[in-house]
Amino acid sequence: MAKITISVIKADVGGFPGHVDVHPRLMEIARKRLSEAKKKKTIIDFYVTHCGDDLQLIMTHRKGVDSQSIHKLAWDTFVAATAIAKEMKLYGAGQDILKDAFSGNIRGMGPGIAEVEFEERKSDPFVVFMMDKTEPGAFNLPMYKIFADPFNTAGLVIDPTCHAGFRFEVWDILEHKKIVMDAPEETYDILAMIGAKSRYVIKRVFPKPGSKVPEKEAAACISTEKLYEIAGEYVGKDDPVAIVRCQSGLPALGEVIEPFTFPHLVSGWMRGSHNGPIMPVDQKHARCTRFDGPPRVMALGFQIADGDLIGPVDLFDDPAFDGARTKSWEVADYMRRHGPFEPHRLPMEDMEYTTLPGVMKKLHDRFEDLDKIEQKK
Ligand code: 13P
Ligand code: 13P
Ligand code: MG
Ligand code: MG
Repeated sequence: MAKITISVIKADVGGFPGHVDVHPRLMEIARKRLSEAKKKKTIIDFYVTHCGDDLQLIMTHRKGVDSQSIHKLAWDTFVAATAIAKEMKLYGAGQDILKDAFSGNIRGMGPGIAEVEFEERKSDPFVVFMMDKTEPGAFNLPMYKIFADPFNTAGLVIDPTCHAGFRFEVWDILEHKKIVMDAPEETYDILAMIGAKSRYVIKRVFPKPGSKVPEKEAAACISTEKLYEIAGEYVGKDDPVAIVRCQSGLPALGEVIEPFTFPHLVSGWMRGSHNGPIMPVDQKHARCTRFDGPPRVMALGFQIADGDLIGPVDLFDDPAFDGARTKSWEVADYMRRHGPFEPHRLPMEDMEYTTLPGVMKKLHDRFEDLDKIEQKK
């Protein structure tokens, strides 16, 4: 039997109101499209949801990663939802639909994609994380904690099947290069890169050779699409998703969600131009309101049985995460007091892909050269 693939493909095809939420009619059309595909056996199972204004398609199948038919199904679903969004004049209708025609692979066309392919184990739990109002690098800190920090993941210390550590595939999204590095051996080198989260992003995490889980089967995958590279201008943030597999040689489910008890600072928020804390929320609260935020992360837990999705459990729907939520609005208050000042507003080099250069351009001719003025004196 072919291996199982989980594909999480997401797009902002129109917000409601503004960039807050996804209208129920868009979810309805997505469910209709995917249930037709399930009947035709293109996919085995699916779950449709949203995080903030991003429509999320979670699908299982046996066609492998980068399958043309799965990507086309997602693309056609987003195009159908966009048509409804346009009819209702939803905000930014078709925001992430950046190309006119499907070209065989949805990568580079606007939507975000995370896919993992694996031999289904005796029991196979996994978590789908979805973030709104931030960028792929927002996953660097939690992924590092899950797979490399013994103060987060007890299994790294006490479970012989995790003790060897994990392998990180890091992408340099500026230079379009990747590097594979081992933890714990190269921990400090990994951190030297991934601390610069707007440039270096963790794309996948793999088990080490000799692990209980095959070394070629990714334990985690993060969407790393950058919209401004495709659109050539600011159209919205690259609100990322991640799939993390758990247990039996991989971090336990509780270790996988533990990093989100700390609402770390991420970039995004209002106009994709501000640093702010990421708030772990349940489905009901996966709506970005205050200052179009603060950025949010949602976590759905599933088991998989011959490709059927069992679940989800809404993992942050739990008072155990109230502390992180309280901290995140306290930090949000503190950051907001800075108004247009850095480091609340992103540094100038990150603002290059926002609307700020448009303001700077008109001031350009009014600048006088200080050295020339000095010489004249
Ligand atoms: P596994 O090794 O079966 O994943 O068990 C670990 C565990 O569940 C501890 O919480
Ligand atoms: P989204 O990327 O979620 O559409 O948000 C864009 C924005 O500019 C919010 O202020
Ligand atoms: Mg939007
Ligand atoms: Mg969004």
